[in-house]
Amino acid sequence: MTTTQLSQLDQRTLRDAFGSFPSGVVAVAASVKGQLTGIAASSFTSVSIDPPLVSFSVATSSSSWPLLREAGHLGISVLADHHDDICRQLAGPREQRFDGLPFTVTEGGAVLLKEAVATFDVTVHDEVEAGDHLIVLLRIHEVGAGNGEHPLVFHKSGFAKLHRDDLDPTRLDGRINGADVPPTSGDADAA
Ligand SMILES: Cc1cc2nc3c(=O)[nH]c(=O)nc-3n(C[C@H](O)[C@H](O)[C@H](O)COP(=O)(O)O)c2cc1C
Repeated sequence: MTTTQLSQLDQRTLRDAFGSFPSGVVAVAASVKGQLTGIAASSFTSVSIDPPLVSFSVATSSSSWPLLREAGHLGISVLADHHDDICRQLAGPREQRFDGLPFTVTEGGAVLLKEAVATFDVTVHDEVEAGDHLIVLLRIHEVGAGNGEHPLVFHKSGFAKLHRDDLDPTRLDGRINGADVPPTSGDADAA
């Protein structure tokens, strides 16, 4: 592995290193003052169970966030592996982002994509300045479970698919998110 000193860090090196960390992608979307507004975001992450919080980071240069943050409720949709074109569309020209998109709008204004892996109806809980981004904490009000779709994976500036074989829950031994998964026989070495 080659290492680069902090003082020599250039943005390309940093972006490449950040891109080596795989993530899912969500749509953050709402109907605000009658206008459909949204972006694709790979910075989404779970934060807290009690109270139920998630977060994502938005660039301070975002032209959509000033409008989105005015929404009563926002929709977070975890994109499925067949949503790669939709992801590009949601990151493209603003006026075309919702063209032909299958979605529903809740009474509170959250825009939720159909066939998403999971959906969250949220409100803005807090915003924290973080360099050229804002970390946005979101309070969850409703969760939609999806129908077993597989998630879209974003990695090294491209899209990938998840191989479930690598995530056999019976081998996690109940240690992920406090899930109560009993160990299977033959797992004595999985300390
Ligand atoms: C896969 C993918 C992930 C993205 N993740 C983020 C993100 O986490 N935060 C962000 O601010 N923009 C992210 N973007 C860019 C936004 O989707 C959008 O293009 C950008 O906010 C500019 O649009 P706007 O001016 O309407 O905000 C991502 C784009 C793509 C394609």
